[in-house]
Amino acid sequence: MQSFVDEEVSVNITVFLGAPGSGKGTQAKILSSDGKYIHLSTGDILRNAIKTQTPLGKEAKVFMDKGELVPDATVISLIEDTLKTLSPDAQIILDGFPRTVPQAEALDAKGTTKVKSAIFFDIPNSALIERLTGRRVCRNCGQPYHVKHMPPKKAGVCDVCSGEVYQRSDDTEEVVVRRLEVFGSQNQGLLDYYSRLNKLWNLSADRSPQEIQKSLIEVLK
Ligand code: AP5
Repeated sequence: MQSFVDEEVSVNITVFLGAPGSGKGTQAKILSSDGKYIHLSTGDILRNAIKTQTPLGKEAKVFMDKGELVPDATVISLIEDTLKTLSPDAQIILDGFPRTVPQAEALDAKGTTKVKSAIFFDIPNSALIERLTGRRVCRNCGQPYHVKHMPPKKAGVCDVCSGEVYQRSDDTEEVVVRRLEVFGSQNQGLLDYYSRLNKLWNLSADRSPQEIQKSLIEVLK
């Protein structure tokens, strides 16, 4: 099992669990907008590595294009390296990590990071294909939009930073179906893991973003 070995790192973490499209990124962006929380998304970090064509990006692209998970060892060292750069009193929202039980175990190993709670964004699969195939994202700041439910004010332009709004290459129906299958194969193990530790919160995610945000703020108090 891999572990986070730097004894000086002891950051407080809230983990967002949930299917692709369940709204983890949307809510994490809102919560981190005033600087109280740091939003770390493994998907965003990996897409950035692909954009800049690093060795990590080249490796990850092969898996991401097919809707498969990037190998545990790769994402664990990615998160390990990122957490080491943060202040010990930082409040982190981890979005998209862990995705497997070995990743969750690595995060908890050695007591160098402290997972306060794991919040599961609970939503039926039937709502997700429409959310994901209609999603658009800012290429510059990652702000998510939806062609129907949350379009940018000006088509193709990000409201936040005026960056280009585009469709992710893994948001095609074929890849989305595979991502949902992969999620389904790992999710119960993760829910059991955090439930055993008494850290699991179930959040109904088939509601408006505003209602979900209100519930999240209550849970995070
Ligand atoms: P990642 O980028 O993490 O994708 P994901 O988990 O599939 O999650 P999404 O970003 O698709 O969904 P989300 O829940 O953030 O939804 P969002 O808020 O955007 O990972 C991509 C890939 O990277 C993986 O497939 C894997 O290959 C690799 N990877 C990443 N982490 C890894 C790890 N730990 N291990 C191994 N591999 C890893 O919302 C979706 C849409 O819905 C948007 O259009 C939004 O506007 C809309 N929406 C949001 N909330 C609502 C609402 N309440 N009502 C209506 N619409 C809403």
